[in-house]
Amino acid sequence: MDICYTVKEVRTKINEWKKQGLTVGFVPTMGYLHEGHKSLMEAARAHNDKVAVSIFVNPMQFGPSEDLKTYPRDFNRDIKLCESVGVDLIFHPEPSEMYDDNFCSYVDMNGLTAELCGKSRPGHFRGVQTVVLKLFNIVKPDRAYFGQKDAQQLAVIKRMVADLNADVEIIGCPIIREADGLAKSSRNTYLSKDERAAALILSKSLDLGKKLIEQGETDAKKVIEAISNNIKTEPLARIDYVSAVDFNTIKPVDKIGKSVLIAIAVYIGKTRLIDNFITD
Ligand code: PAJ
Repeated sequence: MDICYTVKEVRTKINEWKKQGLTVGFVPTMGYLHEGHKSLMEAARAHNDKVAVSIFVNPMQFGPSEDLKTYPRDFNRDIKLCESVGVDLIFHPEPSEMYDDNFCSYVDMNGLTAELCGKSRPGHFRGVQTVVLKLFNIVKPDRAYFGQKDAQQLAVIKRMVADLNADVEIIGCPIIREADGLAKSSRNTYLSKDERAAALILSKSLDLGKKLIEQGETDAKKVIEAISNNIKTEPLARIDYVSAVDFNTIKPVDKIGKSVLIAIAVYIGKTRLIDNFITD
């Protein structure tokens, strides 16, 4: 497995592979890898000749009062996880390698970012889009893998690739959960024992919403209300949003039909967690 710290090192390796006609699967991450990331790497491993993973805590996608400084990092552990999946290349740049002193170009969009995390975290998706397009230009993958855990991010990246004709296929992968239902996240490490127990309210409330829909409820307001009321039964939880939107456009819907994203963001203590499901 190659560990690259510079764009030049990555390009040399990727160009070698491309010359041999090999396909490249790419998994962008911010590290502190867990089973969720691993599932994306396994999907990439299964469908491509070579697998590249980036580990970069991207300063541009964090707001001024967010957790950039405390975001968990453990590069040595991450290396082992990548090795266990058979990853071929890790790209682990310093921020200065990605953003030099004169950096001033950004990727942004008008649609898709007005709701959900785009509303709560202004500038977040501009940072995500910018870094992901840069990474695509560096790694030149045939396919790139993103988790449905960050459903709005997945929709934004798909739209960006279509809008800007990026030559890469975007593959969405299912949410990986702990045995008790909590969606795996690098940020779960912030939770105290009591908060970890309280965090179950996210998946439990979504399950309740799912059940209502399965029973025939199509009124988005009613589903949102039921999920919200259930979250409010947990004293450590504070709702950021509970929303029902079209998965492709991220526009709010009144009726629950196909491809509706039911997404929630909830503070458990100081930790903001997200979870969701998409209707069939
Ligand atoms: P990060 O939070 O490290 O996530 C990297 C990828 O792993 C994302 O596509 C995310 O959706 C996926 N992922 C995280 N938890 C998951 C879970 N429980 N199940 C399935 N997939 C999961 O998302 C980012 O980094 C960054 O915004 C990035 C795209 C790397 C740009 O900086």
